[in-house]
Amino acid sequence: MSKVNPYCAGAGSRPPVLAGRNRQLAMVHHLANQFEGHHPAENIVWTGLRGMGKTVLLRQAQDHLRDRGWLAGYHEVRRSAGLGASVAAILVQGSAALGEGRLAKALSWLRDILGTATLSAAAGDLSVQLGLRPSAAGTLPEDALDELLVRLGEAAADAGVGAVLLFDELQLITRSDLSALLHAAQAAEGLPVAFVAAGLPDLPGAVAGAGSYAERLYYDRVDWLSPADVREAIVVPAEEFDVSYDQGALDLLVEHVASYPYFAQLYAEETWKAAGTPSDQAGARITAGHVEAAVAPALRRLDEGLYRIRFDKASQAERAYLVAMAGIGDHRIPSGDVARRLGKTPQAASPLRERLLQKGIVYAPAHNVLEFSVPGFASYVRRRTGEQAEAAGAAWAHVAN
Ligand SMILES: Nc1ncnc2c1ncn2[C@@H]1O[C@H](COP(=O)(O)OP(=O)(O)OP(=O)(O)O)[C@@H](O)[C@H]1O
Ligand SMILES: [Mg+2]
Repeated sequence: MSKVNPYCAGAGSRPPVLAGRNRQLAMVHHLANQFEGHHPAENIVWTGLRGMGKTVLLRQAQDHLRDRGWLAGYHEVRRSAGLGASVAAILVQGSAALGEGRLAKALSWLRDILGTATLSAAAGDLSVQLGLRPSAAGTLPEDALDELLVRLGEAAADAGVGAVLLFDELQLITRSDLSALLHAAQAAEGLPVAFVAAGLPDLPGAVAGAGSYAERLYYDRVDWLSPADVREAIVVPAEEFDVSYDQGALDLLVEHVASYPYFAQLYAEETWKAAGTPSDQAGARITAGHVEAAVAPALRRLDEGLYRIRFDKASQAERAYLVAMAGIGDHRIPSGDVARRLGKTPQAASPLRERLLQKGIVYAPAHNVLEFSVPGFASYVRRRTGEQAEAAGAAWAHVAN
């Protein structure tokens, strides 16, 4: 067998084993069963911090639905593109994956719309080209999205399946687009068409303000993994190569992973390398020594990748806020203390706090309490600012001499 590494740390990289997500996958199975049995089901919204595995979960849901012959398409919401463009991208992708089944035949009109027409709706944001080619044919009416989802649902019902629009990064959607989406979902109620979305934890608040239908969404949290989930995520992929882990190695890995899905892939990937990439050594055992040897390269990857990207995403003023937080501690940091440290009133510091929450760099587990959203970030900030202070000191010494 060749030298391969089964683990994969990276944004949106599908893990070899999706551990600890049975509840969320059961929600998708339930939705599909309900619709196929002509019963209603709620739209699903998953929320979770960065790196918790929202994207890979949406991809898994998409695979499941497509295996059942459903139309399912994925799209990552961007500030620059409106809802019409997102929906068009989802439908193009979803219908392309359908093959030549019954639903594909029932959706020939959809291809025509996506191919030629312009979808325009009331709000400016929605007035976008759905056409992949320059529009030639007519324009859909104002409530185009409602009608589109209803027709899609009718076609899916005729074919005995359903259609699901998967939206990632839903927190980036504008309020008017969100209202339009909720409105369309309501218009299609009773038909087998739904959306499954994922976003950052402050999403329910944002959605609640966007329309009365918002309360009827089914929320679930994509959260930290249990130690048993972490073990499963690490052990099972190695079994394929007849490679196993010593108990001490696993205990140490569980400790470093700190329940964070991204870290499960990162530490397992680096440990696998430290053990000499044993995919071609059936019967090999991975030891605590291999895990210890993996820590430095894993930290280096974090410092150069995940941590750095996050810190660099923050503005100068936001960084000062992060530095103040890291100076206070690693966990459960009172936002009042941060403001005080910055010499500001809580009100004056609150826009910075809000922006960091929006960027997903910090989160608020309780009122006026903050956490960094990735484990180990506080010590990175201290390390980095310490280095900068040292570098500044060295530069000063150089000038002074
Ligand atoms: N349940 C899981 N078991 C094992 N590994 C997982 C699990 N979920 C996610 N991962 C791994 O964690 C990493 C992050 O996953 P993903 O990109 O889906 O997170 P995310 O929540 O979408 O993050 P972001 O908010 O930054 O987009 C990937 O390397 C993925 O393989
Ligand atoms: Mg993601």
